[in-house]
Amino acid sequence: MSSQFPEARPRRLRRTPQLRSLFQETEFTLNDLVLPIFVEEEIDDFVPITSMPGVRRIPESKLAGEIERYARAGIKSVMTFGVSHHLDGNGSDTWHENGLVSRMARICKDAVPEMIVMSDTCFCEYTDHGHCGVMHGAEVDNDNTLINLGKQAVAAARAGADVIAPSAAMDGQVQAIRRALDAAGFSQTSIMAYSTKFASALYGPFREAGGSALKGDRKSYQMNPMNRREAVRESLLDEQEGADALMVKPAGAYLDIIRDIREASRLPLAAYQVSGEYAMIKFGAAAGAIDEERVVRESLGAIKRAGADLIFTYFAMDLALSGI
Ligand code: PBG
Ligand code: ZN
Repeated sequence: MSSQFPEARPRRLRRTPQLRSLFQETEFTLNDLVLPIFVEEEIDDFVPITSMPGVRRIPESKLAGEIERYARAGIKSVMTFGVSHHLDGNGSDTWHENGLVSRMARICKDAVPEMIVMSDTCFCEYTDHGHCGVMHGAEVDNDNTLINLGKQAVAAARAGADVIAPSAAMDGQVQAIRRALDAAGFSQTSIMAYSTKFASALYGPFREAGGSALKGDRKSYQMNPMNRREAVRESLLDEQEGADALMVKPAGAYLDIIRDIREASRLPLAAYQVSGEYAMIKFGAAAGAIDEERVVRESLGAIKRAGADLIFTYFAMDLALSGI
């Protein structure tokens, strides 16, 4: 055996921390992260979310101060979720000029104008039945929900939201919102489509966070987690409908889908590390089983490596404070 064996020695590039970082292929920075936040109206104090340790509902009265704190820490973008006390069958509070969706956008933009404000555009936190649209008998009525999505998007844009992020999983929602925005003079407001959204059990903690009234499930409008071809099809449909950016949700268990869509489209691609992914890491770390910070970095790095350009994550503020 020659003295050169083995010829390939990948360990040469792993010898020191300096060599390892020089040859590192994937990186993420705060520029790539969006912090999702929960804002509740008509309360005075923060409400801890027990299934998401470290995450709290923000009282609307304290939202401006929170946005300033995030900006100081280096957060560039937030996604707003409202916890409404004004529920009805249609979620009509969402399109009122002074409803919670509009107020959240205005408060955030007034507090820190350069903060990119994404408005989650759905109805499930504003309907008394908890579904993501208008009901027709036992079904969610797709086309009537589209009309309301257009109204909500225009209200959010008028209040200053930079990005409309429809998560209702209705067919045609991107086109309906694009047309409504353009007709109202908001041709510069962009659409981040939740383009491939699975009916995932990993949304469990979010239901507590958002105070969801839902009984049942969303399987008739969100995607079957077992479908890979359909996942690509859904995102490509949103691209055709005029989406400015695409998204895969959840993220960590769907890295193959992120890669597929990355290769099928040239649009920017986001991935959403959802509440259940957050909870698993937090509770695993609290039990002493894993190192939280290292697992957070590994999970987000893997999502980038799979092909995501940006990541929605509840860890964004922790990372900002730890000086990423
Ligand atoms: C609702 C919505 C959900 C999430 C974002 N928007 C829950 C659902 O679809 O049931 C989940 C986010 C998370 O779990 O972190 N349209
Ligand atoms: Zn919804």
